[in-house]
Amino acid sequence: MINYQLDNKIAIVTGGAKGIGEAVCKQLAHSGAMVHLIDVDEENGQRVESEIAKESGQATFYKCDLTDHAQVNKIFDQIYALNNRLDILINNAGIAHIGNVENTTPQDMERIYQVNVKAVYSCLHFGVPLMKKSGGGSIVNMASVGSLRGLESRFAYSMSKGAVFTMTLAIAKDHLSDGIRCNATGPARIHTPFVDGFLKDHYPGQESEMFEALSKTQPIGRMGNPAEVANLVAFLCADESSFLTGCFYPVDGGFLNLNT
Ligand SMILES: NC(=O)c1ccc[n+]([C@@H]2O[C@H](COP(=O)([O-])OP(=O)(O)OC[C@H]3O[C@@H](n4cnc5c(N)ncnc54)[C@H](O)[C@@H]3O)[C@@H](O)[C@H]2O)c1
Repeated sequence: MINYQLDNKIAIVTGGAKGIGEAVCKQLAHSGAMVHLIDVDEENGQRVESEIAKESGQATFYKCDLTDHAQVNKIFDQIYALNNRLDILINNAGIAHIGNVENTTPQDMERIYQVNVKAVYSCLHFGVPLMKKSGGGSIVNMASVGSLRGLESRFAYSMSKGAVFTMTLAIAKDHLSDGIRCNATGPARIHTPFVDGFLKDHYPGQESEMFEALSKTQPIGRMGNPAEVANLVAFLCADESSFLTGCFYPVDGGFLNLNT
């Protein structure tokens, strides 16, 4: 792992118990940050906390359903009270949905909105004032190639990831003078429990065949791995990226620009 020199920076990572969020927590902790990971998955959250401690990193797990605005407020205040600052916020938690506009129900729309949009808003709503009091910081929002490109049968999901990208622009613009940088990363398919769950639910018995097919949708011929996203996220948090704000950075094996 690369050391991005984030010594003693106070970081909050949502959805840090698995997948991309887990890799982000480990990369930030490896680079010296004090990581506070928030997730609804207690078992894996505690596992990540203890795996980071075994590598001499600093991490604390908080169990929380991020759709609970009041609970998010409480945890952010708790983290600030402990450390007296907030330097890094990674809005990574998200859920998937498959469907076009005809078969997406109001309940589907609401569920995706609550987790992928409203919970990001809650973390920004409570995180930005704490970052302002800290003299600035870096926010990275986990968007998707679906923020920019039409993906088949991803109506609600694309709606939510478009919103993640435009919230990124709004925050970057409004808080430039507060010393806050805000960027979005846009992964294509990354091999995480998110993808394994999708294959299990939608293609039982054909998982390996479909895994190959999904791998080939990236021109580079494979899925990404969580560490490849975590590397970019850590760079966007470090002083080395101090001129970067209000941008979308694909991590996509050529998906956006090289697919015909
Ligand atoms: N894996 C991919 O191919 C891919 C591609 C593009 C974008 N993304 C985005 O990257 C992010 C992470 O994806 P992943 O593949 O690592 O997913 P994952 O399912 O492996 O991990 C997501 C984590 O978020 C947590 N979470 C979900 N809802 C929550 C809630 N309401 N409160 C608290 N925690 C909650 C889950 O418990 C889980 O630990 C998501 O925003 C996803 O949309 C993933």
